[in-house]
Amino acid sequence: MSIFDELAAGVVSSSPEDTSALAERLAMALPEDAILALQGDLGAGKTTWVKAMAKTWGIEQTVKSPTFNLVSIYKGQRQLVHVDAYRLESPEALDGLMLDEFLQSPFCLIIEWPERIQSWLPPNAYWLKFEIESAARRRMQLTQLHDF
Ligand SMILES: Nc1ncnc2c1ncn2[C@@H]1O[C@H](COP(=O)(O)OP(=O)(O)O)[C@@H](O)[C@H]1O
Ligand SMILES: [Mg+2]
Repeated sequence: MSIFDELAAGVVSSSPEDTSALAERLAMALPEDAILALQGDLGAGKTTWVKAMAKTWGIEQTVKSPTFNLVSIYKGQRQLVHVDAYRLESPEALDGLMLDEFLQSPFCLIIEWPERIQSWLPPNAYWLKFEIESAARRRMQLTQLHDF
């Protein structure tokens, strides 16, 4: 089964390593110039997911939550633009980050806390929802916004 079909059906991860392996597969399959929203509570595994995608794209810098600077940019086989929308007050606040300047193809824009800026997202954005089921279990499901 393709990683898209698996994630669309919903998957369970039993460890951070499982989560990273899923993220690596998505990184290899994701179309260029994709927007990926990662929704889930604190500790759900969003940043773990981003780190694994970055590694797959040959990014050697350490990926950290961009909590204070709101956006981090990493160059690898794809330009990774990592946004933490937690402190954004409105979808319009994203315009102030001038993301367009950084979205050089091939890129992937990944947004944590996307529910803050949902109306800003284009309909072809991917939306991966994480749920914490227990200390080490996470459930994830992928949709595209136009499926909502
Ligand atoms: N199955 C799992 N997948 C991802 N992280 C897990 C899992 N089980 C436990 N964890 C732990 O949960 C935390 C996830 O942190 P992080 O990726 O920063 O989450 P978020 O960015 O969503 O706040 C890490 O401490 C990680 O070790
Ligand atoms: Mg995070």
